[in-house]
Amino acid sequence: MAASDVTRLVEAARRAREHAVAPFSHFKVGAALETADGTIVTGCNVENATYGLTVCAERVAMFKALSDGHRAFVRIAIVADTEAPTPPCGACRQILWEFGGDVEVHLANLVAHKGAHRLAALLPLPFDARLL
Ligand code: THU
Repeated sequence: MAASDVTRLVEAARRAREHAVAPFSHFKVGAALETADGTIVTGCNVENATYGLTVCAERVAMFKALSDGHRAFVRIAIVADTEAPTPPCGACRQILWEFGGDVEVHLANLVAHKGAHRLAALLPLPFDARLL
């Protein structure tokens, strides 16, 4: 994986973050998901007045990708405007695992790449369809 590929993905997540609908938390998050064929699908968090129906940037990106017909994924970048990186929440880890498998998870803020993880390391002992 060339560093420029990750840079490009992080840049896409930064741009997607600008579309965040976060009037309640004011915490804007952007995500960019790279498919196996190199397509980049982005997402941002979308909040609403019930609060509880909020969807994170990562799940928006994954659901957009699935609805466009993508089924294989390589990596995702997640961007927030914080010094400490923003890792995916538990619900997003589950969805990313079920549909993306052991993808690379790149965390960044507006100015720097802050770390990379394998999803399997972020979600040990996962529940998925193999156990049904
Ligand atoms: N959020 C995300 O979109 N992704 C994350 O990884 C963490 C949290 C959103 C949900 C909510 O709109 C706001 O950030 C504050 O939790």
